[in-house]
Amino acid sequence: MPDESSRQANAARGAAISRAHAIYTPFMLSVYDVLVHGLSNRFAWRCPTRRLLDLYRAHLSADHLEAGVGTGFFVDHARRAAFDRLILLDINRHCLDRAGSRLAHFNPVLRQVNLLDPIEIDAAPFASVGLTYVLHCLPGSMSEKLVAVDHLRPLMGDDAVLFGATILGRGRAPNRAARALLDLYNAKGVFNNREDDLASLSEGLRERFPKVEVETHGLVALFRAA
Ligand SMILES: C[S@@+](CC[C@H](N)C(=O)[O-])C[C@H]1O[C@@H](n2cnc3c(N)ncnc32)[C@H](O)[C@@H]1O
Repeated sequence: MPDESSRQANAARGAAISRAHAIYTPFMLSVYDVLVHGLSNRFAWRCPTRRLLDLYRAHLSADHLEAGVGTGFFVDHARRAAFDRLILLDINRHCLDRAGSRLAHFNPVLRQVNLLDPIEIDAAPFASVGLTYVLHCLPGSMSEKLVAVDHLRPLMGDDAVLFGATILGRGRAPNRAARALLDLYNAKGVFNNREDDLASLSEGLRERFPKVEVETHGLVALFRAA
């Protein structure tokens, strides 16, 4: 039987995980691409969306797993004509519904999973895994967030690439718009990135993969690991 303190810790963890994705209602998702990829990337995070699209166009394979899919924006805009396999993972049912219908022509498999729990999917390993704008949402320290990567690794083939991006909350100088959004989102628990910096991300990835590249644009760290 769990004691009272571990029961409380589990309840707090569950609440933090819920707060990090509760914002993704059908209405929010209908304006998400404009707000985030149209406005915030450019004016607050100072990372043009085309940099993120370049990452997808370079690494998205025909055998792809997208983790924390949101609206499916990047998979949709990556200019891939077809997939042998496409699986979309998200904790939030509304995200899966929206991305699933947007990408229906690719016949994706949808799975509702919490990336912070072990992922049980009975499928051969994938050649590429996308993880974009998810780590800054997840609660905990960088090493606690990267447990999500530990759960994705068994789903990657030997030569597979993990790629994506995250917004850093520490060690970069935010402009006024970024500071206001960081304050708001962290207060609401939508972001949990106050302690996320480039060193903890890079070191955490290097502990897990032999080949890691991380570059920054504004507050955004773009990474690829193989
Ligand atoms: C900021 S959105 C990014 C969406 C998309 N990748 C993009 O860049 O447009 C974060 C996504 O991660 C999902 N997410 C948050 N916490 C999660 C968790 N613990 N497990 C799985 N997905 C999670 C959210 O539901 C949402 O779809």
